[in-house]
Amino acid sequence: MENGHAGKHRVAVIGSGNWGSVASRLLASNTAKLPSFHDEVRMWVFEETLPTGEKLSESINQAHENCKYLPGIKLGTNVIADPDLESAVKDADMLVFVTPHQFVEGICKKLVGKLRPGVEAISLIKGMEVKMEGPCMISKLITDTLGINCCVLMGANIANEIAVEKFSEATIGYREDKEAANRWAKLFTTPYFLVAIVEDIEGVELCGTLKNVVAIAAGFCMQ
Ligand SMILES: NC(=O)c1ccc[n+]([C@@H]2O[C@H](COP(=O)([O-])OP(=O)(O)OC[C@H]3O[C@@H](n4cnc5c(N)ncnc54)[C@H](O)[C@@H]3O)[C@@H](O)[C@H]2O)c1
Repeated sequence: MENGHAGKHRVAVIGSGNWGSVASRLLASNTAKLPSFHDEVRMWVFEETLPTGEKLSESINQAHENCKYLPGIKLGTNVIADPDLESAVKDADMLVFVTPHQFVEGICKKLVGKLRPGVEAISLIKGMEVKMEGPCMISKLITDTLGINCCVLMGANIANEIAVEKFSEATIGYREDKEAANRWAKLFTTPYFLVAIVEDIEGVELCGTLKNVVAIAAGFCMQ
């Protein structure tokens, strides 16, 4: 994979909710240490105005904390919030998708023709797009719309637990490109977040997505 930045990969995170903020924190702790990655993690923020009148992206860059979706946790000074989608992704060769699933298609359409050649993606999104023709997995939606390789990372993960460095595990699903999957695993793994890889995108993505359906059903049964 050519990255064209003096040999360093550049990471952008598309999404800055609860899991997007925690993922950015996790990634930034690694990019600051690993020589093959540029320190900075650009995090696209769906801009909101806080009750104080301040913009969410400005607040994140000033306090290094997402006071709305992850209060009380420092993200790292190398996480840079950017409310402009195009600017957030323009230099990246590694893209992390982590928005609620219903926004992905619209985001991907805005990104067509705006990405660097050879960019790799990973989806942390649980859910699927249900169309007239049938259900479509989010990784497929990303690959089909943008023409890029897209791995998935799923686990029984609670963002707030990972934010306070409680031990968790996740699995990366990939198709054919094991090198890309290993690069993602290196980028996400920390002593408290263990990541395995498996050559089965659909299996990993469906397990991640359907476990939430089972969890809701189990919750109803306990009422
Ligand atoms: N939170 C978790 O513990 C967790 C764990 C694993 C996986 N996930 C998955 O991660 C994904 C993101 O979940 P989350 O918990 O970070 O979400 P969240 O509910 O915390 O955040 C919602 C995000 O959507 C943004 N948003 C609102 N309107 C928008 C629009 N029109 N366009 C684009 N963005 C908009 C908000 O600004 C916010 O950043 C989901 O697919 C979820 O299943 C979450």
